[in-house]
Amino acid sequence: MSDLKVNVIAHPLIQHKLTLMRDEETGTKDFRQLLEEISMLMAYEITRNMPLTEVDVKTPVTVCKSKVLTGKKIAVVPILRAGLGMLNGVVNLIPAARVGHVGLYRDPETLKPVEYYCKLPSDVGERTLVVVDPMLATGGSAAAAIDLLKEKGAKSIILMCLVAAPEGIKVVNEAHPDVEIYVASVDECLNDHGYIVPGLGDAGDRIFGTK
Ligand code: URA
Repeated sequence: MSDLKVNVIAHPLIQHKLTLMRDEETGTKDFRQLLEEISMLMAYEITRNMPLTEVDVKTPVTVCKSKVLTGKKIAVVPILRAGLGMLNGVVNLIPAARVGHVGLYRDPETLKPVEYYCKLPSDVGERTLVVVDPMLATGGSAAAAIDLLKEKGAKSIILMCLVAAPEGIKVVNEAHPDVEIYVASVDECLNDHGYIVPGLGDAGDRIFGTK
């Protein structure tokens, strides 16, 4: 794992909530809420180095210098469908963020991801895109989604996932060395069915209560 480029967010609240999410006894309502809470905490961590500039502000008492965000604005881009489970947490913290959506399915013949939906803010090239998808498994969808975003003009992309397999991190690192990856956990491996081990099962099914 040492050659993988990934940022693991080890905040105790995130780790505690992730353990609750892994538990097979955790139902849809709690799973969804925990994912939203973790996404907000992760967004707090990934925005910690956002650039600031000083402006003059007139308070009811006096005029002073105070800081405001500068630099690129954010757009959040969930990969459909499980990425939707991370959207509200990020938007709660960054309410002015624009939201794009990317949908991909796997072609049963070629096994390659194919775009079926893509709607992005018009100023995609001026924003930092936070691509969200809870499970970074093979990395195929994430790498294809990032390819697509770059084709549409994106220049600055961050990938934020809940749980990653080393295999998926490697695929994204190799395909997109410019993209920083943030996760709450790097798990052991993928199993023969493409599930992350130990993982938490099918994130989309657990978020939406489908099975
Ligand atoms: N997608 C999921 O939802 N879970 C996995 O373990 C792998 C991919």
